[in-house]
Amino acid sequence: MELSAAATRILAGLLEARTGQQLSTGRQWRLDTALVPIMRARGIESVDLLVAALVGGRDARLADAVIEALLNNETSFFRDHGPFQQLMGPVLSRLHSARAGARRLRVWSVGCSTGQEPYSLAMGLAEQADLWRGWTIDIQATDVSRSATARAREGLYTQFEVQRGLPVRQLLRWFDREGEQWRLVQALREKVRFHVHSLTEPMPLPGMFDVILCRNVLLYFPPPMRRAVLDRLGRAIAPDGVLMLGAGETIIDQTERFEPDPAARGFYRLRETPRPIQLAAIPGFA
Ligand SMILES: C[S@@+](CC[C@H](N)C(=O)[O-])C[C@H]1O[C@@H](n2cnc3c(N)ncnc32)[C@H](O)[C@@H]1O
Repeated sequence: MELSAAATRILAGLLEARTGQQLSTGRQWRLDTALVPIMRARGIESVDLLVAALVGGRDARLADAVIEALLNNETSFFRDHGPFQQLMGPVLSRLHSARAGARRLRVWSVGCSTGQEPYSLAMGLAEQADLWRGWTIDIQATDVSRSATARAREGLYTQFEVQRGLPVRQLLRWFDREGEQWRLVQALREKVRFHVHSLTEPMPLPGMFDVILCRNVLLYFPPPMRRAVLDRLGRAIAPDGVLMLGAGETIIDQTERFEPDPAARGFYRLRETPRPIQLAAIPGFA
């Protein structure tokens, strides 16, 4: 199925308007394969007809389905094993000492996709039960994708998904077999609260977070949007909190809000005196 330049431009524009995500040239090949199931389900015979229906604007659900299909929801349990160990070790250990008075820890997994990231954290914390006994641990997880968050809430994963990154010991300890799939035990599912939210919109959750995981999400934002999102995250993080990015991501030279955490590679902390930026100056930013 050949996509015309005009169709590609309209689809990429729709994705960017709703999510801030830019469709890089490298990802454009996904467009046609991603759209086939939608076209089949609706009996639409060509991408041009699909785009015409989108532009007609009479079917809001069609636009939602197209955006869902264009998002990259790639994730896995304990993704980037090393940084995750660092989070579960020195990073949380420092926060444990710093919060020993309040005995409260708040975490936000931004762009949580189908839940493997916040559930990995919930699993890690459950395995440190002695350390966290008596603490209130609040794990919030958000994603712009309605279908991904719905799947996350279910906590039901295919054999392929649990084989990626999840050690067998943890699979057997924390999951129950359901037919061909594996369901995370209820006690861990209840530890994470999932919400549909786009980073282009104002902060949905009140209060400050001790840890923000924003991994493999900023990658596809254009630089001004990335900067604005980092500014927004900076206002949601506790003064001594940590921001964790994906293994291949950096924000050096992209924001004045954060600086690398000298104690933990791949983690960032608030810089003391950031310069305010004007969110209203970023197109599409609420
Ligand atoms: C590549 S996945 C990363 C998942 C997980 N954080 C990880 O690293 O394994 C990126 C996720 O970001 C979500 N996303 C994209 N744009 C977003 C936005 N504007 N607001 C919130 N989530 C967004 C996508 O739906 C997708 O689930």
